[in-house]
Amino acid sequence: MAVAGGAACAPLLWRCGGRVSVASSALGAALCGAFRNMSEGRRRDVHAGAVPAAAAAPGRSGSGGADGLGDGLHPGFYDSTVEKYAQQALDKLSMEQMIEWGQAAWRDPDKNILRSARHVQRELPKRLARRLLDLQLLPHLVVTNPHIKAVYDGYRRSFDSLRAIPLVRSHKDNSKFCAELRRHLDEHAVMLDRLAAGLRECRRRQLVGAFLHLDDFFDTMLRSRISRRVMAEQHLSLSAHRPGYVGIVAADLPVAEAVGLAAQMATQMCVETFGVSPEFEMCGDVRASLSYIPAHLDYMLFELFKNAARAVVETHRARSGPRARLPPVSVRVCDGGPGHLTVHVSDQGGGVPPGLLRHVWSYGFSTVGMADSELAQWLRAPGEGASVAARASGQPPADGAGGAAHEEALLRLPAIGAVSAPPWDALDRDNGVGLGNGGSGGAADGGGGEGGEEAASSYVPGDSPHSSAGGTRDALGALQGGDGGGGGVPPSGQLSGSFRMAGLGFGLPLSRLYARYFGGDIVLHVVPGYGTDVYLTLTRPRLEPGEVYPRSGNVA
Ligand SMILES: Nc1ncnc2c1ncn2[C@@H]1O[C@H](COP(=O)(O)OP(=O)(O)O)[C@@H](O)[C@H]1O
Ligand SMILES: [Mg+2]
Repeated sequence: MAVAGGAACAPLLWRCGGRVSVASSALGAALCGAFRNMSEGRRRDVHAGAVPAAAAAPGRSGSGGADGLGDGLHPGFYDSTVEKYAQQALDKLSMEQMIEWGQAAWRDPDKNILRSARHVQRELPKRLARRLLDLQLLPHLVVTNPHIKAVYDGYRRSFDSLRAIPLVRSHKDNSKFCAELRRHLDEHAVMLDRLAAGLRECRRRQLVGAFLHLDDFFDTMLRSRISRRVMAEQHLSLSAHRPGYVGIVAADLPVAEAVGLAAQMATQMCVETFGVSPEFEMCGDVRASLSYIPAHLDYMLFELFKNAARAVVETHRARSGPRARLPPVSVRVCDGGPGHLTVHVSDQGGGVPPGLLRHVWSYGFSTVGMADSELAQWLRAPGEGASVAARASGQPPADGAGGAAHEEALLRLPAIGAVSAPPWDALDRDNGVGLGNGGSGGAADGGGGEGGEEAASSYVPGDSPHSSAGGTRDALGALQGGDGGGGGVPPSGQLSGSFRMAGLGFGLPLSRLYARYFGGDIVLHVVPGYGTDVYLTLTRPRLEPGEVYPRSGNVA
């Protein structure tokens, strides 16, 4: 008796109990293919160190089927592999662990680099799976947006291809794995822009845009993105032995240096935008240093400084005309000892109107280009009640509060996806790396401009494929002028049009996300009509007493 497909159909023979006649029909061939996929899926799971199906989906053999092929009722409807991975607990990596593992990798590369590789290999698919589920939960309008769909497809591709990589057992395996990781980092560099572009397009929909509450979604997506990139880049940098660094973490990063650099960049951008800039004055514990990822700190300072400079210029010009004297922006470094370090940025830019304070942490919120009438709407007191029908009919809401109140009411509707925490995140917040407190902050920067289709419109740590999460100062190349992808530093002082002084509305929320990621925070205090004080607090890793960082890159 001939067996269609020969040895390749062995699973069919096994599953069908020897009723091989099925395999000679078209249906049989299809089944055969399906089983082949299934067995490949299993093989991948084993390679990628995934938990067995039973453990991954406790208590059931599958909605979607433990085989990952369908929901049992509608074969092919839903691939439950994503669910299986999303349910697995995350193995988080703190800053302390990053440093500890990095040092261990220097001491015993054979063991520890491979351990790190397997950790990354295990963790990335779980995190991607959670984000895929988050994307699946979005409203129809959002998931069908081409940008968001592209993000989903990109994540899905990565999820599949990472799982297909055999378990890293040797340095040769690791080299291949690293090449694949780099490819993923490159490919995902544009995802942030696409997410932001998708957000803009959806929010612009006249009737339903205001119903979208995507801050929590962005928060989770971007925190997870930071975590994946930090993890991947830390692993890629482990063998680099860069002096003063443990992977991408600068062991002893001088804060004054970061402040000076960000101030220089913000000044330059402010002058290019407005023709003038306030001075930046640094004081306090100017010798302070900490272990941190430089690109993260650079980004946060740069965004805060740009905001301060813009507020000072706009406010004083409005009050005293184009030749107004600009009061300086004060930057005080406050060394809080072993636990914390705070950078206090104080400007006399008139402050943020109280009614706007709660909006400034929203992704995409910016007062740039906002007409007075629009500003007044944002500032007006909240009203009650609203519906899509009311919007469609153009009728004011039942309380007669008018358009602004109506918008406010819409904005206060429960966030989609935030009504009940999804189970994969209830297991543990996907902070991934770090001590992040999972606060409600941030979003991504990188948003892109009006066009919706912009690529790489702003600098975000982690977007530069090779230096990005960028412990290294090379990441400043990205800060300076848009790292074209090579991680190199573009000609000094060259500020391309790819960065903006303001207008994307991602600077504050994304900076706060970065700060919180490693257990810090950003807090804003406004002195109405006078200015703004921003406190950027960074958490120092808790390290064993007496631990010494090798400036030389060699561990004693
Ligand atoms: N130091 C500041 N002084 C006054 N307003 C500020 C300050 N920082 C932020 N803001 C307000 O918060 C908004 C959001 O800031 P941000 O997220 O950085 O986005 P963007 O700078 O692109 O507008 C700004 O548009 C501005 O209205
Ligand atoms: Mg800004």
